[in-house]
Amino acid sequence: MEKAKLLIIEDDEAIRTQMKWALAQSYEILIAEDRPSAIEIFIKERPPVVTLDLGLPPYPGEVKEGFWALSELLSQDSLVKVIVITGQGEKDHALKAIGEGAYDFFCKPIHIEELRVVLNRAFYISQLEHEYDKLQQLLCNESFEGMLGTSPPMQEVFSSIRKVATTEVPVLIVGESGTGKELVAKAIHRNSSRKGFPFVVINCSAIPEALLESELFGHEKGAFTGAHIQRKGRVEMVQGGTLFLDEIGELSLSLQVKLLRFLQEQKIERVGGREAIGVDARILAATNRDLKHALNEGKFREDLYYRLGVVTVSLPPLREREKDILLLATALLQRYAHESGKKITGFTPQSIRAIETYQWPGNIRELENRVKRAVIMAGGQKLTPVDLELTSPYSKFVGQGLREAREALEKDLIQNTLSKNKGNITKAAEELGVSRPTLYELMEKLEIGKG
Ligand SMILES: Nc1ncnc2c1ncn2[C@@H]1O[C@H](COP(=O)(O)OP(=O)(O)OP(=O)(O)O)[C@@H](O)[C@H]1O
Ligand SMILES: [Mg+2]
Repeated sequence: MEKAKLLIIEDDEAIRTQMKWALAQSYEILIAEDRPSAIEIFIKERPPVVTLDLGLPPYPGEVKEGFWALSELLSQDSLVKVIVITGQGEKDHALKAIGEGAYDFFCKPIHIEELRVVLNRAFYISQLEHEYDKLQQLLCNESFEGMLGTSPPMQEVFSSIRKVATTEVPVLIVGESGTGKELVAKAIHRNSSRKGFPFVVINCSAIPEALLESELFGHEKGAFTGAHIQRKGRVEMVQGGTLFLDEIGELSLSLQVKLLRFLQEQKIERVGGREAIGVDARILAATNRDLKHALNEGKFREDLYYRLGVVTVSLPPLREREKDILLLATALLQRYAHESGKKITGFTPQSIRAIETYQWPGNIRELENRVKRAVIMAGGQKLTPVDLELTSPYSKFVGQGLREAREALEKDLIQNTLSKNKGNITKAAEELGVSRPTLYELMEKLEIGKG
């Protein structure tokens, strides 16, 4: 096994030799006599653990070079474990070094056996920290604000979110249903300077047209029958935050005009009110409809379209995120298995194939539903295509060549027909629309018994 690297920074030759001699068996020893050469070696070799004598040339009687070296080492690698070595009676310096990020200290004269124990532990901790760091990075790369995705199109989405979040421009989020449009809107809000303010969602398709205007902009008392009191609209509630207009494609033309006015003036009027109220809101909108098409049909205003869609974030359908499908399925399985307390450890190979080849018209929402239901229904430790309800008549042929698939289908059909007709060849042949000799021939070729 490769030895771990240990950098010894020490200007006293006798001590250097003593340490090197005693520790060379356990570690690959690197030696530096002053700060500049220590840093040079450190950058090149990246040792996880360093021993540092605080009194270094050109001021061996002081500690300033040592402290400088300490801060440089830590700025190069915040995880490096620096063990400070001081002269006797210099405990104050040692404690100060710990305060500045050193891992431990040691007073001269050096007792090698004691030093060994300290070193051992330093290497052990460093290794744990590096492993943890790697894991964190992996998780970080795979997910962003609750969205999983390592596939290139999703990485692109994450990077667009980061870029637009810090700006004030409206963003139009497009994608098929269930692709995560709302999650993207939330991620933009949470990564913006508005994150301490409200995130307000209005689903334009869920509120009846007649009510939508007062939902959006509020109304004054007596504005219409039933308006007994004055009410603030959702837009007004946003003040300082983000307004997410979901299913914007469903907004009526008359409300589109009112929304446009708000976008231009940052002011609203309550229904039945005369006063213009200023509202500071950033607008995000989403749609699964083809807005350009609606535009051409005159169902969506062009000016509003260009205002809302200064930037467009486009979510790929799940079937185009090849690498992510299984990652998502596995993450969902873990979540639901944990929630339900059932010991389900994964998917059968057939399920994996079915998951990867299915087209997922309902995208992630559909995947969530299927996995959730499967976890509840499953009898075994691994989810099967039956649990996931992913058994199409073709699923068992997936991955086979056309000839094998055709033979498998023929065999299936003949066996079924034979058993239905209790092995009666004449009847089976009749039902299958072939002659008796042909059926015999097929049975022989496909190795089918009469049973
Ligand atoms: N990348 C992702 N990683 C994990 N879960 C996700 C991801 N994208 C979406 N989801 C989950 O999938 C479900 C659907 O997401 P969301 O509601 O944001 O989609 P949508 O595009 O707004 O759908 P709809 O068009 O149906 O409103 C949610 O439960 C969400 O948590
Ligand atoms: Mg949605």
